[in-house]
Amino acid sequence: MTITDSTGNSLSTGNRASADRYDAALTLLHGYFGDPLLAIDRTLAEDPEFTMGHCFRAALMVLSTERGAEPMLRESVEAAERLGATANDRERAHMAAARAWLEGDFAGSVQRYGEIVQNHPRDALALQVAHIGDFFLGQSRMLRDRIAAVLPAWNASTPGYGFVLGMHAFGLEECAEYGQAEETGRRALQINPRDPWAVHAVAHVMEMQGRQPEGIRWLEDSAGNWAPDNGFAYHNWWHLALLYLDLGDHARVLKLYDEAIRADDSQIVLQMIDASAMLWRLHLRGIDVGDRWKPLLAAWTLRIDERYYAFNDAHAMMAFAVGPGRRECARRLIEALEHRVDDGGTNAMMTRDVGLPLPCAGRIRSRGLFALHGAAAADPVHRPSIGGSHAQRDLIHLTLIEAALRANRTSVARAIADERVHDKPSSPFNWNLLSRARDLGADAAGAAEANQHALDVRSNATARLRAMLAVAA
Ligand SMILES: [Fe+2]
Repeated sequence: MTITDSTGNSLSTGNRASADRYDAALTLLHGYFGDPLLAIDRTLAEDPEFTMGHCFRAALMVLSTERGAEPMLRESVEAAERLGATANDRERAHMAAARAWLEGDFAGSVQRYGEIVQNHPRDALALQVAHIGDFFLGQSRMLRDRIAAVLPAWNASTPGYGFVLGMHAFGLEECAEYGQAEETGRRALQINPRDPWAVHAVAHVMEMQGRQPEGIRWLEDSAGNWAPDNGFAYHNWWHLALLYLDLGDHARVLKLYDEAIRADDSQIVLQMIDASAMLWRLHLRGIDVGDRWKPLLAAWTLRIDERYYAFNDAHAMMAFAVGPGRRECARRLIEALEHRVDDGGTNAMMTRDVGLPLPCAGRIRSRGLFALHGAAAADPVHRPSIGGSHAQRDLIHLTLIEAALRANRTSVARAIADERVHDKPSSPFNWNLLSRARDLGADAAGAAEANQHALDVRSNATARLRAMLAVAA
């Protein structure tokens, strides 16, 4: 009799225990709990011919999006491929998807994981990788639609259904369907209150809608469910800090940074990204962060030559833009990226479109132009071509308006501040930006032109701001 996983997908193994342990590891992965790598390594140690175990391990490495995982990814892909003759079609499709990632074709890899899901809508591993892959690639609509397409194959009696609802909630949020996102996220949590991704989806809704006190309560009251022994906790703590930041409680933000976002000297890139992003936001507000950049800069310095993923590089450059002893690092990173754009692969494209302009922004800052060029060239807020969520990419928007304010570009600052206040009128920080923009007074173009700029910025930020750069240069 064919052995299946808990949602009915055939496995080529004849070992029921391995299949059960795969299901258990998958649950850990969905909930970011414990150590799914250790769990699958133990399974493979006892059953090295367990093909799906190797595919699972490869998927874990894909999800890390860092160069350091590449040797283990290669090891797992090759181990799985050696078992190709006895594997089933779905397992071979997993191998091909992981192989594409290994070869730098991130977009092709995500597409392949997505095709597995089309053929096997209850393949929860492929679904998770495709979902997070959509996140890495900035494919907001797919965050929602890919999950919506498989939902008819799931119901409350299917193991892991809550996790799928959590994914859908996040996709809905990234498509600005906030009401449905929150309702779906809360439904996911009724099934499984310990789903940090569903908690996160609802936190995003509250962040985007400017419901700061409610968002703070939401995260603080549920922390006992999502924080202990959880590999995603740092990011939910980051969201909590973001809400406090909006209210101007900088002491609380720094406390969260020290105790939860960067409680240790983690070398995990995803955690370093959140640390950089929070310090950069504080920097833009002119808040003294003490010597917090120093260890973070040291961690990023070890990765200058990786050139693995443009989103990582942009966050490295934040440390190199303001951290101590940074200039040489900045130069090396820019040089590395300039070489990278000629390589093949998905990251080369992201680097050319966004990854290079963004880090250049940090360097330009030291010449007095601050971040205008990079932010204008990238404009990933309105035209995302880099990964991350809207809340994460908002940092680019914040950089752009700060650049405009410091360069006395009244019309652009005013337009962006107006836009922000319109989007989130409950944000004290947005009103503060608007007040600063108003205080700049009218520039040479005057108020009428400011209105025109507002339209232009919304419709074609890149072209407009590039033109401004020419004026500023
Ligand atoms: Fe988030």
